[in-house]
Amino acid sequence: MPEQKTILTQYQEVPANQAYSLQNPGGLILLCTRGSIPGSSTIRYDLAPLAWCTPYEYEPVSKILLVCDTSHKTYRDVQETREFVIALPTYNMLSLIERTGSVSGFEVDKFQSLEIPRFNARSMDIAIPEGVAAWLECKLERIVTEGTSGIVFGAVVKAFAVPESWKLRIHYLEESIMYKPGDRI
Ligand SMILES: Cc1cc2nc3c(=O)[nH]c(=O)nc-3n(C[C@H](O)[C@H](O)[C@H](O)COP(=O)(O)O)c2cc1C
Repeated sequence: MPEQKTILTQYQEVPANQAYSLQNPGGLILLCTRGSIPGSSTIRYDLAPLAWCTPYEYEPVSKILLVCDTSHKTYRDVQETREFVIALPTYNMLSLIERTGSVSGFEVDKFQSLEIPRFNARSMDIAIPEGVAAWLECKLERIVTEGTSGIVFGAVVKAFAVPESWKLRIHYLEESIMYKPGDRI
């Protein structure tokens, strides 16, 4: 491929504070949780898009870690209930991703205010938005904090997916760039 050969000599420096996005291209997730509202006995379901999420083990069960800001309602919920769902949105869910990522569950009930149709996880009481490509129900293993980042380690207890779910996923590069997978090689 001659054009690619030319491109692969044209390296430009990437500032250190943007270098993370070089390794960002991965499937976006929706972190779905349940938790109390501070100062009240009300229980609320919540969800938030996260780009920073990776598997780190598969035997005897899959384990996944995600990086969640410690100020988020979803993070507090995970600390409180020690369980969460990683739902995999499709590329048709861009608007839901933008809306759920721009407001906190501390302020509003996102499922209610954004009128998000939902169903319940199978092994835990957590709401999942309709139309996702797959979901993984996880128990919290541990949390490591580094500054304001909470690194959340979870073990999968149940997972469900439509056939070839990877083809439907939405991938995140940076604020203005989201994309869907291309063809298999
Ligand atoms: C595309 C996208 C990717 C995001 N990735 C992350 C992430 O990896 N980690 C994180 O802590 N927040 C991330 N966020 C921000 C949270 O989703 C956002 O702050 C959300 O409102 C938190 O909601 P909560 O307070 O209800 O948990 C992302 C937002 C968007 C729109």
